[in-house]
This record gives sequence, structure tokens and C-alpha cells, in this order.
Amino acid sequence: MKLLESKNAIVTGGTRGIGKSIAVSYAKNGANVVIFGTNEERAKQVLEEMKQVAISEDQKFEYKLVDVSSHGAIQTAIEDVYNEFGSVDILVNCAGITRDALLMRMSEEHWDDVINVNLKSAYNLCKAVVKPMLKARAGKIINITSVLGLTGSAGQVNYTSSKFGLVGFTRSLAIELAKRGICVNCIAPGFIQSDMTDKLTDAQKAEILKKVPMQKLGQPENIANAALFLASSMSDYMTGQTITVDGGMLA
Ligand SMILES: NC(=O)c1ccc[n+]([C@@H]2O[C@H](COP(=O)([O-])OP(=O)(O)OC[C@H]3O[C@@H](n4cnc5c(N)ncnc54)[C@H](OP(=O)(O)O)[C@@H]3O)[C@@H](O)[C@H]2O)c1
Repeated sequence: MKLLESKNAIVTGGTRGIGKSIAVSYAKNGANVVIFGTNEERAKQVLEEMKQVAISEDQKFEYKLVDVSSHGAIQTAIEDVYNEFGSVDILVNCAGITRDALLMRMSEEHWDDVINVNLKSAYNLCKAVVKPMLKARAGKIINITSVLGLTGSAGQVNYTSSKFGLVGFTRSLAIELAKRGICVNCIAPGFIQSDMTDKLTDAQKAEILKKVPMQKLGQPENIANAALFLASSMSDYMTGQTITVDGGMLA
């Protein structure tokens, strides 16, 4: 018996990087998986990868092209998922963006974009799945925050606000839902190899690596392993927590 056999999972940001790695790991462990993203070509590739690692021909994989910051579009997409899959057992809010600049130069648009994609999305997605999870008296919600949701960073007031917000969101929702057996937790990745960190200059990367005791970048799989634990029954008595996976950055 695999850890997520016959479970239905939604992974936002599943078209790339950390979200993709989580989606593939869930597929390997028996889950039916729907990824949310905006890029169809990459979504199709991830679907193929999930099919290749699936443990049963009965597993279903799907993608939804949807902007996670749009409340209306998410309501519709989630309704479709319930119609096609019947339930949502696991929700991973992983979609995220950066729009870095010092506050003095940060545009209102870049503030709003980051808050809406990184934080409002969790409201949109959770709001759409919570009622059926309450009825089912079960569910796992995993929000991908960051070490920058636990500590400050110059040039990123929008990003750190969104990630600190996710930690608070998680803790409050965990208390709201605990009695009904729904677990809500966060993962705080450190410096992980992905398109998001590939954008940094070599000088910026070297500066960050000085703060990582393990002296190397993490891989998306390191985060997927924590997300597998939080999605499985192994974490059933754990809620409102943040697991930091950061090579010792915050040690
Ligand atoms: N990499 C790191 O070092 C690191 C560290 C800490 C936390 N994190 C967090 O981990 C999460 C994943 O990061 P990553 O490094 O894997 O980033 P990434 O490679 O840049 O991937 C970002 C993902 O988010 C999706 N996305 C972005 N805007 C979206 C929107 N408006 N609607 C729907 N999907 C959207 C993208 O989908 P499309 O391409 O299909 O639009 C993509 O799948 C983010 O929340 C990030 O903040 C990353």
C-alpha cells in the first residue's frame, strides 16, 4: 500500500519547480493529481511524467489552466475538480512569484501581484475546498511559505509579507478546522534550485550560500519529501506547524 493510494490531490504551481516535484511524488505514491498553473505546454509535460511514475493504471491526472489569484476562476476550476474526481483530500498551495525591489522603488502593481498570487490564492483555494473537507471530516492542506516567511529580506517586502501572511493564515485555519480532523501545515523552503532562484545573479547566489550551513542549494525533491509526509497519515496529529527545509539556514 502506497502512502497516498486513492487520494485526490490538487497542487498549485504544479507545472514547474517545487510544485512539479510534489505532484510527481504524489503520483508515485498512488494519488490522483490535478495541477494548477498557467502554462499549457509545461502542464502537459508534467502530466506525462506523472503517468510514467504512476503505480496503477486507474490513477487519474489532470491540469487546470487558471490564475490562482482570481477568486472566480478558482471557484469554477475547483467545481470542475469535484465533478471529475468526487473529492479533494489534499490541497497544496505552492504557486508563487517574486517581484523584488526596494520599497522606495516598488510599484503598487508589484505589491498587489505578489500578495494576490502568493497569499490571496490560499484564501481562494482553501475557501473552495473547506466545506466538503469539513463534511468528510478529513483533509490535508499544505501551504508553501519560505524561510522568508520567518525572517526579513531587503528588497522583498511584498514577498516576505505574503509568506509571513501564509504562516499566520495556516495557524489560524488549523485551529478552525482541527476538531474535524483537517490538518493545515506549512513548509518553509530555504534556497531551492528552480526557475525562481535561477533568476538570481551569481553574486546574489554566493551571498545566500554563505548563510546555508550545508553550503549547497536544496533540490525540489527535498521539499516534495516533506510535502509527502504532510499529505500522508504519518502526520495525522500535526497541525498549524511550519516545517523548515533549508540546509540549516535558520538553525
Ligand atoms: N525556489 C526557492 O528557493 C523557494 C524558496 C522558498 C519558497 N519557495 C516557494 O515555493 C513555491 C514554488 O517555487 P518554485 O521555486 O518552484 O517557483 P517556480 O519554479 O518559479 O514555479 C512557480 C510556479 O507557480 C506557478 N504560478 C505562478 N503564478 C501563477 C498564477 N498567477 N496562477 C497559477 N500558477 C502560477 C507557475 O505556473 P506557470 O509557470 O504554469 O504559470 C509555476 O508552476 C513558491 O510559492 C515559492 O515562493 C521557493
